[in-house]
Amino acid sequence: MLYDQPDILKPPRSDVLLVTPWLAPIVWNGVFNRDILNAQFHHIDVHIGLTAFAIKKYVLFLKTFIESAEKFFMVRHKVTYYIFTDHDNISNFTLADGRKLVILKVPAYERWQDVTMGRMEMIRDQAIKKFSKEVDYLVCVDVDMIFLEEVGVEILSDIFGTLHPGFFGALQSEFTYERRAESAAYIPFDAGDFYYAGGNFGGVIEEVIRLTNFCHNAMLEDKQKNIEALWHDESYLNKYFLSYKPTKVLSPEYIWNNYYGSPNAMPFGFNSWPA
Ligand code: GAL
Repeated sequence: MLYDQPDILKPPRSDVLLVTPWLAPIVWNGVFNRDILNAQFHHIDVHIGLTAFAIKKYVLFLKTFIESAEKFFMVRHKVTYYIFTDHDNISNFTLADGRKLVILKVPAYERWQDVTMGRMEMIRDQAIKKFSKEVDYLVCVDVDMIFLEEVGVEILSDIFGTLHPGFFGALQSEFTYERRAESAAYIPFDAGDFYYAGGNFGGVIEEVIRLTNFCHNAMLEDKQKNIEALWHDESYLNKYFLSYKPTKVLSPEYIWNNYYGSPNAMPFGFNSWPA
């Protein structure tokens, strides 16, 4: 395979942080060569599980989610979609070779807060029972997303989180962490690296089990005290990543939300990114 030699004196980008202080890569567009990464991951015949929860009316998002993932998620790699749902009749999807869809029937909680928080326990339990035997990596995302560009093996690492699009330029004191000291998700105003989004994390199965188990237990602890963290599972995820640092961090473009404006409104602008 032919490609440009990396130039040790010329970083691919100088407008954003490319590595955390604990030496985890921060993945931005234009800083990696996906062909090299694809070759590496094809060598090990990697198999990736993608989890999403299509509970109650969120089942409406499933079609665009799967169709866009077929187009852009881990193209030409082995993929299993694990769709947790309370619905009985999920329609069939045409999937490319090496890809399959598994339905996992789960109960729907009454409150949306319990639906979102319940994901940690359900992912943990299935990761122990099933995913660990079937896939190498898990990617855990929200179902109300559309893949608009390629999302490939560049995201894979032992345990990764994604920068929330609303806070990547903010001070730690401005992050919407849980601020009540009694909560198991508590982070004081002078701590914290980044604000991670609840809707996109993953890693090797063993690490995802560790993360989801921590978050679920922390929620149970809080429930005993009648506390529900401000942003539910996302608050506990942020607490976890404070002590157990992610080995890779994804840029906010991996979970962009137009609520925060056009991506071009980012300080540096997507358009200025190298191809
Ligand atoms: C919102 C998002 C919520 C939560 C919150 C954190 O933009 O919709 O799910 O992440 O930010 O402050």
